[in-house]
Amino acid sequence: MEANQVETFLKLFMVTWQMARIYELKHPKFITAMDTLYDNLTLILEQRQELVVGIFGDELASGEDIFFEFSKKVIASIDHLKNMGIEKITFTCDLQKQELIEFIAFLLTSNDELDRPAQEYLTLRGITRINVDKLKASEGHRKIKVKDVDIKISHYRACVENSANIFEELLESGAIDSLRLQFISRDIVKYFIGDHRIFIELAKIKGHDLATFSHLLNVSALSVYFAYKLGFSRQDCLDLGTAGLFHDIGKLFITKTILQKPNRLNSDEFLKVKSHAVIGAEILIPHRKVITEVPALVAFEHHRNFDGSGYPKLPFVVKSHLASLIVSICDVYDALTSRRTYKADYPPEAIYKLMMRQRGTRYHPELLDIFFKIMGVWPKSSIVKLNDSRIAIVREINEDEIFSPKVEVVSSEPCGLIDLSKETDLKIEKTLNTLFEGQEYLERL
Ligand SMILES: [Fe+2]
Ligand SMILES: [Fe+2]
Repeated sequence: MEANQVETFLKLFMVTWQMARIYELKHPKFITAMDTLYDNLTLILEQRQELVVGIFGDELASGEDIFFEFSKKVIASIDHLKNMGIEKITFTCDLQKQELIEFIAFLLTSNDELDRPAQEYLTLRGITRINVDKLKASEGHRKIKVKDVDIKISHYRACVENSANIFEELLESGAIDSLRLQFISRDIVKYFIGDHRIFIELAKIKGHDLATFSHLLNVSALSVYFAYKLGFSRQDCLDLGTAGLFHDIGKLFITKTILQKPNRLNSDEFLKVKSHAVIGAEILIPHRKVITEVPALVAFEHHRNFDGSGYPKLPFVVKSHLASLIVSICDVYDALTSRRTYKADYPPEAIYKLMMRQRGTRYHPELLDIFFKIMGVWPKSSIVKLNDSRIAIVREINEDEIFSPKVEVVSSEPCGLIDLSKETDLKIEKTLNTLFEGQEYLERL
């Protein structure tokens, strides 16, 4: 059997699985994808008794073939399978379509819901012609304990790759891949809500080539979280996520020499950088039927300040759209957070002070207050030093006392969560830079 025949099957399988994640199993889009998948698999199984797909490390493989390139694109799904204890899937002949549907439905189960080996669930669901198993040591598999943090990183990586693909396609063919966009939005809602900091920290430290798109994704994730906490509808949250993802798209048309220039920009260069707002809106307006007009508005307005200053300058007074006010807070917050390096340390407490200084001028005052109520001064997963010298990780934000979150001490014996709002003398002294003194505690995030 040819390798590309199996690769086609794997692609169809992943698409159908994704469809099931987004739509219901009765949705026509899922049914069409399932029909194609089933026909393809039946054809393969007519040629042989069984099709075995394995996961070696991070790669999908079948027989002698390892699908390196394809595996990179579906790393999040591969991780999900591994976490379900599935490292080998065997499809045998006479497989019924209903079994395949049941199997895909089973893959939608979250890992925490599983309390027995995956194969037992398949048997319970009446699936007899699909078997799942772990790879045996003799099959050359390195036993890898997939940590939560690694799973989150791979989801993040997959999302960044997906956003990069969306941008490439938009530049090349002028079209927006709305299905891919939905995958990203779904992943943001599912995996990133409230966990923004982990991605910034770990993406940086693991040294992946994420810089270009991670800002867009971070702003998107932050905006969705913000909107969600503000009580927006799911659709409005998703629209904001899309707006966050596209807010700087105009920058793709400005040369890197200017964007990455370490020294001060001259006035010509600065004008070019400023033009990204208008360029972005021009790119997005034609797509308003697919992604609504919100992303175009946000691209245009995200550097316009609450008091009317900023850019682009307008000859009349107009209030910015609420989405733009939200994205502009998330944009600056992420830019400051990500700029944190060994040399230029922007700890959360400094970011808070810096942004609060522009409350009511650059930022909508009440929105900024709510933003920090939600994020806290030290967002979830910050590594901090307490004033008794113990090191702790911020686990929960106290929305009414943003300087006193609930923390878990990690430098000494575990003592459960400490609610700093209930402690009179104990408080956070400073943030530990995760590129330096906080690095050893990253594993505890
Ligand atoms: Fe921008
Ligand atoms: Fe930005």
